[in-house]
Amino acid sequence: MSDYVTVTRDGAIAIVTIDNPPVNALSFHLREPLFKALSDARDDASVEGIVLACAGRTFVSGADITEFGSEKALASPNLPELCALLETMPKPAVAAVHGTALGGGLELALSCHYRVADKQAKVGLPEVKLGILPGSGGTVRLPRLTGPEAALKMIVSGTPVGAAQGLSMGIVDAVAEGDLTTEAIAFARSKVAEGGPHIAVRDRDEKLEAARADLSGFDAAAKDLTKKTRGLEAPLACVEAVRNAVTLPFDEALKKERELFVKLVAGDQSRAQRHLFFAEREASKVSGISKEVQPRTVAKVGVIGAGTMGGGIAMSFVNGGIPVTILEMTDEALDRGFATIEKNYAISVSRGSLKEDEKAKRMARFSRTTNYADLADCDLIIEAVFEEMGVKKEVFGKLEAVAKAGAILATNTSYLDVNEIANSTTRPQDVVGLHFFSPANVMKLLEIVRGDQTAPDVLLTALNVGRKIGKVPVVVGVCHGFVGNRMLGARGDDLEPLLLEGAAPEQVDRVFTDFGFPMGPFAMWDLAGLDIGWRNRKSLGKTAVIGDAVCEMGRFGQKTGKGIYLYEEGSRTPKPDPEIAALIETKAKELGIERRAISDEEIIERTLYPMVNEGARILEEKIAARASDIDIVWTNGYGFPIGKGGPMFWAELEGLKKIVEKLDHWHGKTGKAVYEPAPLLRALADSGGSFSGRN
Ligand SMILES: NC(=O)c1ccc[n+]([C@@H]2O[C@H](COP(=O)([O-])OP(=O)(O)OC[C@H]3O[C@@H](n4cnc5c(N)ncnc54)[C@H](O)[C@@H]3O)[C@@H](O)[C@H]2O)c1
Repeated sequence: MSDYVTVTRDGAIAIVTIDNPPVNALSFHLREPLFKALSDARDDASVEGIVLACAGRTFVSGADITEFGSEKALASPNLPELCALLETMPKPAVAAVHGTALGGGLELALSCHYRVADKQAKVGLPEVKLGILPGSGGTVRLPRLTGPEAALKMIVSGTPVGAAQGLSMGIVDAVAEGDLTTEAIAFARSKVAEGGPHIAVRDRDEKLEAARADLSGFDAAAKDLTKKTRGLEAPLACVEAVRNAVTLPFDEALKKERELFVKLVAGDQSRAQRHLFFAEREASKVSGISKEVQPRTVAKVGVIGAGTMGGGIAMSFVNGGIPVTILEMTDEALDRGFATIEKNYAISVSRGSLKEDEKAKRMARFSRTTNYADLADCDLIIEAVFEEMGVKKEVFGKLEAVAKAGAILATNTSYLDVNEIANSTTRPQDVVGLHFFSPANVMKLLEIVRGDQTAPDVLLTALNVGRKIGKVPVVVGVCHGFVGNRMLGARGDDLEPLLLEGAAPEQVDRVFTDFGFPMGPFAMWDLAGLDIGWRNRKSLGKTAVIGDAVCEMGRFGQKTGKGIYLYEEGSRTPKPDPEIAALIETKAKELGIERRAISDEEIIERTLYPMVNEGARILEEKIAARASDIDIVWTNGYGFPIGKGGPMFWAELEGLKKIVEKLDHWHGKTGKAVYEPAPLLRALADSGGSFSGRN
């Protein structure tokens, strides 16, 4: 008996209960008494069966990830030893699973002879999301219960399944309709009565036989599942481990799994992904929101503008179960907006990710209007109208005339001054920026822009409602472009000179995709539409050598079939175009720029280094509270590879000293402000400090 493990008896059944709040993680201080309790139960002749249960809100929901990489994680008794102890029990061991059995928790349950699950329970192996693989037999035992293909899918996706699905897959032996422990005890008793043999999962090979005879189906599934891994090592290691489970004897496969685990857990990718795991939690800690602050209720939302963003934002709330009224200037605009929303849901239905009746339910949560008075009962109203200060102020003026007291008034502006918008109203404390990313119903990132006067309960409400609709919210301060777009600007500042000096667009884009971005900046320009930036530049009296010339040729990107690249009819694949290569050469000649070969390293130095530099400025100015917040913005909103942990984490891997040296070099050569090292960056580089160490 200990604080963390208690043993009770129900006749000949011993109930071993883990109690390590909040989530019964497998910390060292729990493993020791657990090992002892299980050994005692094994050795006690009066015990005929064992139920392994958990107190609190969940079964063991994983390893203690704060122990990762430390000696404690491996200290005996470690998880593999606990699993082996359970698996070799001479009496039936039954896991009673409620809440979530994740990672090490499921591995523990898989080492029992049987699993009884509460009907609300979920089981899964999400290790891949932390850049590792299940390292305590998950990849070797799960395929024996489900067959290798189903196991592979669960392990590579990291997505848990519910009790009913677990039952049909063979992971769970029974689903408890009533009290879980009572039913698990009854289950154990019935197994004792049957008299065995109680076959350990390790000895159940029947579902592996088919794959052993022909691995081609498995290999095809593996190829398909790992298609989008973009340089991530963990999903490939998962495939290798499950394949080993099929082709090698159990103990050998287990040993190989451990080797893969140890290698991954020590690697930079896993460190990066664990950093992001903690960063996301950290991002919810916001200064100025004391414990006493209570969120406001958000039961109904208004969205102004049914364009690209308005439609997607409205869908996000409706998908999260919150009804939305959309306001537009005209019925035609509403018709257009709703046609797009309907089409998006229809695509989901045709892909099988949404049921027809669920689509109907969601559509029924929308209302439409051209009359501001219809927004009077909304708790939160978000404008997504044209990006012009005059229009925004006009909308906010109309809004505050009808919005009820305490309603939150939000702007989705990308660049405009949220304080100026707030101060144009009589209730600046209720105004906040809610910067969604396109497509808003898909992209996870939500920048919550805190104005000088934004009330703490408004911020808290924004954070809560953001999470409720499945977003990853990050609070940022007011500046041009906030965190994400401001750094994007710095990243793109020297792109045109790179082209003029000798790089080809496809080279730059390849460097980015090799780095792990889903696409490079020029493919991105073509996707977003080159004319947007062109119009914007014209209104500001600015020019861009290549960007303007390309637009003057009527090449606006994917939508016109031509931009920086060429797009064949119906294709979104960018093809290098000799016309653009010639244009770049001509422009370089006109400007007297001598072209040379540009190395891949130079492309990184002139795009990603200035971006890190801008990140450091953002920290200096307290636009972001932590470097890890910046990493969350970039990995969730801009496709920065998760295996590199976000720009600020990556910068430390790259070496701050090296980055500052190169910035100095390019600053000297070009005189451009984006290269001038931020004082913070220089100070950290000089002192050998780190961004994380600052916090
Ligand atoms: N497109 C993006 O990728 C993106 C991303 C983040 C933020 N934003 C921001 O979101 C806002 C909207 O951008 P968008 O791309 O959806 O533009 P859009 O042109 O697709 O849609 C704007 C909509 O607002 C409507 N509208 C304009 N003035 C109005 C008014 N006074 N009252 C009611 N409706 C009005 C228009 O009819 C149009 O349907 C902008 O502030 C933009 O900067 C855009």
